[in-house]
Amino acid sequence: MSNKRPETMERITTPALAEAFIDEQISAIKAQVGEKKVLLALSGGVDSSVVAALLIKAIGKNLVCVHVNHGLLRKGEPEQVVAVFRGEMDANLVYVDAVDRFLDKLAGVSEPEQKRKIIGAEFIRVFEEEARKQEGIEFLAQGTIYPDILESGPVKAHHNVGGLPDDLKFELVEPLKFLFKDEVRVVGKALGLPDNMVYRQPFPGPGLGVRCLGAITRERLEAVRESDAILREEFAKNGLEGKVWQYFTVVPDFKSVGVKDGKRSFEYPVILRAVNTKDAMTATVEDVPFALLQHITERITHEVKGVNRVLYDLTPKPTGTIEWE
Ligand code: XMP
Repeated sequence: MSNKRPETMERITTPALAEAFIDEQISAIKAQVGEKKVLLALSGGVDSSVVAALLIKAIGKNLVCVHVNHGLLRKGEPEQVVAVFRGEMDANLVYVDAVDRFLDKLAGVSEPEQKRKIIGAEFIRVFEEEARKQEGIEFLAQGTIYPDILESGPVKAHHNVGGLPDDLKFELVEPLKFLFKDEVRVVGKALGLPDNMVYRQPFPGPGLGVRCLGAITRERLEAVRESDAILREEFAKNGLEGKVWQYFTVVPDFKSVGVKDGKRSFEYPVILRAVNTKDAMTATVEDVPFALLQHITERITHEVKGVNRVLYDLTPKPTGTIEWE
């Protein structure tokens, strides 16, 4: 099959166009897989969630979703995947708690590319083990979207479960491969996925692992996760959700002196990042109201264990990148 979006294909901008796309894809999926089983790595990101919802509509329990919790997801994400897909959509969902496995492998590793490699390789290993437990799988569904094929821009594709051994080279099912991100979101809405899943901001494949700088420790990983949850909550309360392109927190691997409860403290800082961009090649910093920054600082320093300072990163891209790593 060609990897070029057909020129006649209309841009999916409305619920009606999304419904038409969904109907068309359901027929195509049924024609491709028949009564056979399909495996999908379901991260809970927009693309894999939309693929899952579409395949559940087409083939029900013949779709086997595998959600690997590697411990590097945002607060509440693994729980939401289970609630939405098992709870609401009655999916055939395998939930794998691999937190200890990943964190043990990552212990003491500080080099960013090495961390990425370990996370990627361990993911394949866990997924492979789950695939081997399943009988009769012949297809692998993936949330590949058109920009992944065009390979444009620096938003790194993470959709392909490449690296599976030869005996697990399944035929691919890629129903979103000609869609742009905004179209995937329209389709996701039409499939009934929750807004916070459909309009989710970009999130690196290696997750919070890139934002917990240096060698990952459980303590600092929790500080990233808890501070990120506070930042997201405050941005939502103050009308910035959906307005700011990407925002998150970072925890570096050094401590500094502060005072807490009248005593000297020696704890980590949290860095806040909030940026706007069109294509992630360049980015500007959001002009967050100072009072809100102060409020977020107050909350993080009081509610997140092991943190005594909060900094706001004022660096555009270039010279910074969006992520810290
Ligand atoms: P940088 O930090 O290079 O990031 O300015 C540009 C955009 O790419 C996102 N990013 C990733 N996305 N898998 C992804 O799908 C990844 O491994 C990955 N790493 C970075 C980053 O969040 C930003 O939006």
